[in-house]
This record gives sequence, structure tokens and C-alpha cells, in this order.
Amino acid sequence: MNCLSPSILAADFCNLEHDIKEAEEGGAQYIHFDVMDGRFVPNISFGLPVLKSVRAITDSVLDVHLMIEEPERYIHAFAEVGADILTIHAEATKHLDAAIDLIKKEKVMACVALNPSTPLSKLEYVLPKLDMVLIMSVNPGLGGQTLIPYSIDKIQDLRRILEKKGLKTDIEVDGGITFENVTEVVEAGANVIVVGTTAFSGDIRENVRRLTEIIG
Ligand code: DX5
Ligand code: ZN
Repeated sequence: MNCLSPSILAADFCNLEHDIKEAEEGGAQYIHFDVMDGRFVPNISFGLPVLKSVRAITDSVLDVHLMIEEPERYIHAFAEVGADILTIHAEATKHLDAAIDLIKKEKVMACVALNPSTPLSKLEYVLPKLDMVLIMSVNPGLGGQTLIPYSIDKIQDLRRILEKKGLKTDIEVDGGITFENVTEVVEAGANVIVVGTTAFSGDIRENVRRLTEIIG
């Protein structure tokens, strides 16, 4: 199944409920929630209290992307306030295997993100444990950047590896997705598509409707 995960990092924070409802009415199945700590990435975005408030106004799948150092410190807390998917960065923890186990213990979907320059081989031994892999198609920390072209090859390579291993793991792509390049990432093998700026600029409902139609 292909699904769209609009990133509320690009929403109007003073009208978050309105923007989330617009995205849902456009057909979004997931809501992507970007947590930044000012350490793993330079920016600080939002965290637990905001997720708790968002959980209270939506039944959509909350797709939480933790761009934080030592994410294991916060896995229980984010699961408790309503995350359905927890994504941690392979580069942010010394004990990736143990951190994945902590996510699974919370009975939420476990996902690991890779920065653009991090090779897929980093996931070789933990792949069977994961529900999803997030391929960062920009350097994390900022919305509105341009997709790095080699991300397409990386998605293709990962899809090939998964097929060879007989795994049905989802591939999420995040960063710089536009109306122009969304088809290319889906054809490469991504099936969960994060869209920030393109979804929340102008008519949110119409943008999301068009994007969901394109990804099929
Ligand atoms: C980047 C974030 C993304 C970002 C995507 O660090 O992880 O989720 O919000 O935004 P766009 O689609 O504008 O690149
Ligand atoms: Zn993200």
C-alpha cells in the first residue's frame, strides 16, 4: 500500500488542528511528526506535549520521526502520548539493536532512518526486526530543501535487498518531495511518502488530494 504522510513541520502552528483536518480530508492516512532536539540536527521543533494534543484531535496514524540524540531516552514517553510509528536515526544511538527492541516493547511500529550519506549496510543485521526504513532524501533538520538525486538509487537498492530477503518492510522517503518527483520515488520502491512544503503551501486539501492520487 502506498500512503502519504504530510509533515506538519510545514503547517501553520497557530492553526495546527485546521491544517491536520485539511490534510486528512485530502486523503492523508498518516501524519508525520518531526521532532528535533537542537543536537542531532541544528533546529528545535516540537515534542511530547504537542504530540499529546495532536493525538487528542486525530485518529490518523501518527508517524513520529525522532531527530534526537540517544532516542532510547524518549521511546517510552513518545509511545505513551500516542505515537503509532517511532522512527529513530541509526546515527543517533550507539546501541541500535537495543533501541529497536525498546520500540517493539511499546507495541508500536519500529522504523530506522538513515541520513543521506549513511550506507544501507548499516541495517544489514537488524532489517528483519523493522516495520519500516526511512530513507532521508535531504540532510535532516529543515523543511523545503531539494531532494538529493542519489536517494533514488538508494531506495531502489533497498527495495532489491528487501525482495531478495523476502521482507515486506515499508520504505519511507522524506525530504524534498514535490509534484514533479513523487512518481520517481514511488517507482523506485518507496511506499510511504513524506511531504512537508508541497502539502502545506496553499490549498492543503487539494495538494494532498493530488499527491494521493499520483502515488496511487
Ligand atoms: C526534514 C524533515 C522532513 C521535512 C520534509 O528534516 O524530516 O520531514 O519536514 O519537508 P519538505 O517536504 O519540505 O522537504
Ligand atoms: Zn521527517
